Amino acid sequence: MDSLWRQTAPHIPDDPSAPPKGSTVVVAGAGLTGLAVATILRRAGMRVAVVEARSIGAVTTGNTTGKLSLLQADVLTRIRAHAGDETLRAYVASNRAAQQWVQREFRSVPGVVAERRAVTYTSSTDGVPAIDREFSASQAAGIPVERLRRPSREELGVPFDIEAALRLDGQFQLHPLRLLAELARRLRGDGVPIVTGCRLTDADVDDHGVTVESTRGEVRCTTLVLATGAVPLDRGLLFATLVPSRSFVVAYDLAREASVPNGMFLSLDDPSRSMRWDDFGGTRVLTLGSGAHPTGRAERTSDLLSELDRWACSWWPGARRRTWWAAQDYRSVSHLPFAGVLPRTGGRIFAATGYDKWGMTNAIASALRIAGRILDRHEPWAAALDAHHAGMADIGEAVQANASVGSHLVADWVRTGVAPVRGDAPAEGHGYVVRRGMSPVAESTVAGVTRRVSGVCTHLGGIVSWNDAECTWDCPLHGSRFSSDGSVLEGPAVEHLSPAEE
Ligand SMILES: Cc1cc2nc3c(=O)[nH]c(=O)nc-3n(C[C@H](O)[C@H](O)[C@H](O)COP(=O)(O)OP(=O)(O)OC[C@H]3O[C@@H](n4cnc5c(N)ncnc54)[C@H](O)[C@@H]3O)c2cc1C
Ligand code: FES
Repeated sequence: MDSLWRQTAPHIPDDPSAPPKGSTVVVAGAGLTGLAVATILRRAGMRVAVVEARSIGAVTTGNTTGKLSLLQADVLTRIRAHAGDETLRAYVASNRAAQQWVQREFRSVPGVVAERRAVTYTSSTDGVPAIDREFSASQAAGIPVERLRRPSREELGVPFDIEAALRLDGQFQLHPLRLLAELARRLRGDGVPIVTGCRLTDADVDDHGVTVESTRGEVRCTTLVLATGAVPLDRGLLFATLVPSRSFVVAYDLAREASVPNGMFLSLDDPSRSMRWDDFGGTRVLTLGSGAHPTGRAERTSDLLSELDRWACSWWPGARRRTWWAAQDYRSVSHLPFAGVLPRTGGRIFAATGYDKWGMTNAIASALRIAGRILDRHEPWAAALDAHHAGMADIGEAVQANASVGSHLVADWVRTGVAPVRGDAPAEGHGYVVRRGMSPVAESTVAGVTRRVSGVCTHLGGIVSWNDAECTWDCPLHGSRFSSDGSVLEGPAVEHLSPAEE
């Protein structure tokens, strides 16, 4: 289950040492956001340290589809509807700034960035109005998008029919882990420690700075940046305004005679399909993403993966699955990324999240925005994004998102309350939550080993559910995920599921 990027990136060394006791800025998280913000701050002369819970790029950045594009499904339509044209233009300016940053930093590094055309399409007549709305939003934002009606298969290099499409030249696709490997190499060469396997567990603010608690001891700093995807601290309840969505990605080696899409493609249909292709040593590899679902809420995740496989093989016969993986990202109810100060932290704790699966640009834009605040060198587009506060529509959505979280919480506890106590061990690859006494217990069997851990998420008490494709326990409330032995993998939880009492 290694991503294509992990299979084809240079080795990125871990650093199991203790984090330095004092730094001006501590960055938690070594994905794209964390390493970009650390790079910008270090260049400005700040003393920076990075603490990473797992390894560099272990979570979403190492498992993305890596398109660095201004054409982003229906994102512009949604931002326009929620925040208006001025904020929309600021959002696009921030994403352009991110593209330029990547170009400047990596133009001369082989194998990191490739220019590609971006295409958003629909294969159904029902999808045409959504294409039209995105076209109109793109024009309002000043993006020179071309609108196509029933383009030929040959024109776009795809084996299926397309009803309508938007096309934008001059976009990019990234090799995300080669990019992170290069940022990490430069940072370490410049004296910035990137400590791995070290999870931030809490942070206390006082008049002089922040005490960061981690699984390898305390660290003091003036400013803390949470570049952790999900937000592990509950100040401002930011995690409650984020909706986690998980998707599958499969990389296929194509047959020699197969045609490849002429660019990076994304459909607005249901299920949505995301496509890009790369050449690895003369083999054309098609990377397909699909099967988006709210984390922890799919009945059988393996069905979503099988559906993606069937679809791919129906259009590219002879395609050979090289590897598959899954990842999640967070949509903010405001439809805009959050990159700013957490409430009640005296301006000392920043967070960046809510990229809605468009974090290649937005991670860098957020890094520029947060570094601008810390260094008092504000980006010209940042004020309009900072000024956007959740309007009435967003509050409605936040309430709705939390109502669904609340109803899951209650329903799942009731379900385990009546679940029979099973005596038998789950079959290989299976897991279920049962009640033992008053406690929900999560039982699973993976690679012949049956494990029993608490079924109660250590974040805020959701009942975890079994992800049969990945063999993990996933929380349907805010997207925390745990391996079958209970170790935290990702999400806002910072503590493992404890072993269940026998
Ligand atoms: C399937 C999929 C496809 C995508 N495709 C695209 C695309 O084509 N184009 C695009 O623009 N975007 C895409 N995205 C989105 C993009 O990949 C993400 O938005 C981006 O990688 C997020 O980067 P990040 O650094 O914020 O988070 P991450 O890469 O998740 O990094 C966060 C890091 O913080 C660490 N961490 C977490 N908690 C703690 C803690 N308590 N202490 C210390 N460290 C901690 C984690 O271990 C992790 O390494 C996609 C997302 C998904 C899920
Ligand atoms: S992720 Fe919040 S309760 Fe599980």
